[in-house]
Amino acid sequence: MNYMARNFTEDNSADLVLARNAGCDDPRLQRIMEVLVRHLHAAVRELQLTTAEWEAAIGFLTATGQICSDRRQEFILLSDTLGVSMLVDAINNRKVDHATPSTVLGPFHVDGAPQSAMGDSISRDGKGDRLLVHGAVLAPDGSPIEGALLDVWQTSADGYYDTQDPTQPDMNLRGLFRTGADGRFWFRSIVPASYPIPDDGPVGRMLAALKRHPMRPAHIHFIVDAPGYDRLTTHIFREGDPYLESDAVFGVKDDLVVPFDAVEDPDWAAGLGVSGCFHHARIVIRLQPTAAAVHGR
Ligand SMILES: [Fe+2]
Repeated sequence: MNYMARNFTEDNSADLVLARNAGCDDPRLQRIMEVLVRHLHAAVRELQLTTAEWEAAIGFLTATGQICSDRRQEFILLSDTLGVSMLVDAINNRKVDHATPSTVLGPFHVDGAPQSAMGDSISRDGKGDRLLVHGAVLAPDGSPIEGALLDVWQTSADGYYDTQDPTQPDMNLRGLFRTGADGRFWFRSIVPASYPIPDDGPVGRMLAALKRHPMRPAHIHFIVDAPGYDRLTTHIFREGDPYLESDAVFGVKDDLVVPFDAVEDPDWAAGLGVSGCFHHARIVIRLQPTAAAVHGR
């Protein structure tokens, strides 16, 4: 191939563009653009893309950008619903020693959640079915990790985060907990709900055109930090949720699904200062020592 060619054809299109990038002095950028341009041109060629379809694609991307704001990130939603976010997460968080799997951060984490004492409730309005979460943060050998910091957040029983719902108190259903010497933690909350990702924009229209629903199964988010271990960003999902098999953003992993058992135990309830039925989830989080990851494939 003559890389100095200027006569653009269906056959030389990618080579011609890449030759124009040859002066780039950032090797990683050059590599990214090489792969991207080759795959993009191959896709256009394989599809025999029409001009109308090209215009529709430009219109879709334009709308995706235009709906973005400080409170809404439609491009992340697009990445999530195409499975790209989970693929990037998988590549960058390869686990060994049966460490707890990671999953997507999602767009609803906020910094500055209140530091909470063991056993505190993160429900600041008390609305919803009561939930008790017991857990432990462990090293791969099963020894407890003391002082691990857990950043926890979840939806209300209506399926909304506090940042989406002005009727909820600020920092509702968010909290920071630190494990004790035995590696354990526990807190009170309410049972989260399955919820739709924002589907009133171009990504929602894409899902509808593809006959896909926008639902995520009920879950609680965690970020777990401990010195000497990789930060873990993950969820626990409620066993039995009808959307576990079809999470709109592909975030479910089998090891992250736990039962939220319904408990009718008057003595236990009295010890918690409540009456009647409540739900109980028990989780074990195994962190991966820093630099233990499997690199390369
Ligand atoms: Fe979520």
